[in-house]
Amino acid sequence: MVKHVELPSAQPIPYIREFPLIGSLPAILRKDRLTFFVRATQHRAVCGLHMGPVPLILFNRAEHVQSILVEHAYDFGKGQLIHKAFGGNGLFVSEGEFHRHQRKLMAPLFQPRHIAAYAETMVLYGERLQQEWQDGAVVDLNSHMIALTMSVIGKALFDADVFNETDELGAAMSMVYEYTVHKLFSPLMPPLSWPTPRNLRFRKAMEVLHDRIQHMIDERHRSNTLRSDFLSVLLQAKDEDGKRMSDSQLMDECLTLFGAGHETTSAALTWTWYLLCQHPHVYQKVHQEVESVLQGRPPKYDDLARLPYCLQVFKETMRLYPSAAGIVREALHDIEIGGYLVPKGYTVIVSPYILHHTPAYFPDPETFDPERFVPEREKQLPRYAYIPFGAGPRICLGNHFALMEGQLLIATLAQRVHFTLVPGQTIEPDPVHNLALRPGGKVEVVVEKR
Ligand code: HEM
Repeated sequence: MVKHVELPSAQPIPYIREFPLIGSLPAILRKDRLTFFVRATQHRAVCGLHMGPVPLILFNRAEHVQSILVEHAYDFGKGQLIHKAFGGNGLFVSEGEFHRHQRKLMAPLFQPRHIAAYAETMVLYGERLQQEWQDGAVVDLNSHMIALTMSVIGKALFDADVFNETDELGAAMSMVYEYTVHKLFSPLMPPLSWPTPRNLRFRKAMEVLHDRIQHMIDERHRSNTLRSDFLSVLLQAKDEDGKRMSDSQLMDECLTLFGAGHETTSAALTWTWYLLCQHPHVYQKVHQEVESVLQGRPPKYDDLARLPYCLQVFKETMRLYPSAAGIVREALHDIEIGGYLVPKGYTVIVSPYILHHTPAYFPDPETFDPERFVPEREKQLPRYAYIPFGAGPRICLGNHFALMEGQLLIATLAQRVHFTLVPGQTIEPDPVHNLALRPGGKVEVVVEKR
């Protein structure tokens, strides 16, 4: 029997009905697990379930987000689940004081005035991609959006051309990503020291990434020329005591930014095109905005304020399909959240997916409606009900970068091409084989040049 833990709290955690021993594991391993989570938690502010023997507590209200991710941020750690899957000590996994220190060092890199310089890169790569496509061609948006966002972050981070996955650096990153997904969802993984084909491929990929990035670090140490890529800026960053990051920490941060900086954004962009194809009246409004503002020229940073509808579309896409469907934490000590006592070591989840699909926050939640993000209406949303980038001191470091990239790439591509979905495809989120919430398999569209 699965042990249903009684928490010594004012209110008992309501556990859902589950199988003995395995709990909700079969449902959690299914492709449609998000529907399961939404159904299981419906109308419940808090809900407990088991992944095998491991209890998970889902907190499903905006005020819980504030409590867990903001007010008690440092009473929770990332937890074993995350540390098991992601190696190193980059910003995404680092904890406590060290995280605070690194975050302070890296935050200036992502301030709007610094990232403005990358607008040009985003547009340039978007233009380059659409130029490759022939009128009438059938292309897979899932893989093209990955290549596009990987090229953008590669250029921003290293000033390197990582335009497609045939590039050694891009291919190695994809391999490491695939391995991480496997590790996260496979209960039984052979130790990395065993020479299984997957382990060997992963070790080779890590070697390539380490060699190439170390080479770039060495080159910047030697060079007197001041460059503006993230790596060069990170290399110069000093803390209050004038100390710089070690090369090995720099390596971990580069790997974190390279990984975090493309997968999530590409998933959101793929869903954007999918939703636009499904909603022609919205797609038409995007075309109209882009045509009237840009009149045929590529967008620039200064145009962002004049392309509000593109941003609304991107935000509404991330409401329906938040790239990070669940945010996981582990209690560092017994702590009370919303009247419930979470014991030390327990895993809690706040799910942007569940929150974004809660009718009390988003009436008619399954409807794609970019008007929800007209600024006056957006301001009225309950605080912490919309959290595609998380919240609190661990909120996505690249959120401004990602929003700018989404908005600019929608404008760039919508100006030059129109997509139509190839009929007969089943396009659904596949949270089992991906870290970010993205469609499983291809998303094929016919390209019409404009
Ligand atoms: C649509 C695009 C993106 C989405 C939806 C997204 C989402 C998120 C979320 C939800 C978190 C918080 C995770 C947690 O609290 O456990 C996060 C953290 C992070 N993201 Fe993003 N992200 C996106 C793009 C980016 C980009 C473009 C970069 C960098 C260029 C980036 C870098 C990071 C980093 C470094 C962290 C860790 C921050 C910390 O723990 O202090 N992300 N992201």
